[in-house]
Amino acid sequence: MTDKEFIPAAKPIVGDDERKAVDAVLASGMIAQGPRVEEFEQKFSEIALGGVPGVAVNSGTSALHLGLLAAGVGPGDEVIVPSFTFAATGNSVAAVGATPVFADVDEYFCLDPVDVKNRVTEKTKGIMPVHLYGHPANIDELQAIADENNLLLFEDCAQAHLATWGGKPVGTFGLFGGFSFYPTKNMTTAEGGLVSSGDDELRRNVRLLRNQGMEVRYQNELVGFNNRMTDVHAAIGLVQIEKLPGWTATRQKNAEFLSANITGAVTPKVHEKATHVYHQYTVLVEDDRDGFQKALNDEYGIGSGVYYPVPNHRLPSLAHFAEGVELPRTEQYAKQCLSLPVHPSLSQDDLERIVEAVNAVGKAGA
Ligand SMILES: Cc1ncc(COP(=O)(O)O)c(C=O)c1O
Repeated sequence: MTDKEFIPAAKPIVGDDERKAVDAVLASGMIAQGPRVEEFEQKFSEIALGGVPGVAVNSGTSALHLGLLAAGVGPGDEVIVPSFTFAATGNSVAAVGATPVFADVDEYFCLDPVDVKNRVTEKTKGIMPVHLYGHPANIDELQAIADENNLLLFEDCAQAHLATWGGKPVGTFGLFGGFSFYPTKNMTTAEGGLVSSGDDELRRNVRLLRNQGMEVRYQNELVGFNNRMTDVHAAIGLVQIEKLPGWTATRQKNAEFLSANITGAVTPKVHEKATHVYHQYTVLVEDDRDGFQKALNDEYGIGSGVYYPVPNHRLPSLAHFAEGVELPRTEQYAKQCLSLPVHPSLSQDDLERIVEAVNAVGKAGA
């Protein structure tokens, strides 16, 4: 037991600037999708996508769903995805009537190109890596497999705002990228998402799909949805996107300290071409991860998270797509992964407490 303040695993930062921005939208009377959404799309493109445009929607799940629909993925198609991710990745493939084909991950927790290669069939339409925890997937090798087999590449960027591969931002490699602005992400709009794409036709289709298939009012061109972002949410995003580079630098500095000092667990690896933005700082605990997590919480007042305890290919909702599929590294990580606090609100004292606790619990268990 400790008498020190509890350190939470994640802490969304929302303050006076966001409140003022929301108030201004509410006072304007224009509260659904309007000028703030367009402004947010432009700012996000400028700051996070090196100028590649985006279309804002109401969640990261919608971004993946509409992106896949706009890309023409549907029944009879297979899309190769990781199993070690949040269910929204495979769900979005299933939601368009296609089949998610689950592949294993590499030592960076991202889609393993070697395993992906083995899972390409005549039905494969695309590959959708997840830049998990804020570390980009191996785009070079995945793009090469896509090129060799005439496949499309899509990116699940829900956890990786500002991450880069070879100096280029994620969300600018595939036909589209899907971002999430859920509160625990590196920036938030409360709920929200965005489809990034350099392809004019794909973006036009996403704009139609988010708005009942309409560009011109009541001239519906295709069957669509109401997946619009509101100006209230965009106003929060406009404040947050300006702060994101600073918050990201703090996350990276925090991660650097943790990696330099943690000896009680296996610290995360970073590929030489990758810039990691540490949505999560995830270590591996080789023995009794759940006991380790409990000790951090109960004895040291330190929160942590397990992302994800059940791989997607074994979830009751998705397992029927994966009969006989074996993914050894995914299974290992599901058992051993533990995400420690890395968020920008941590003080130096907090970071030292985390290191001390992880090293003490690790030593006790060794
Ligand atoms: C990897 C991944 N993909 C997709 C999503 C879906 O995003 P949202 O919760 O905004 O729908 C999330 C976030 O929760 C995620 O972590």
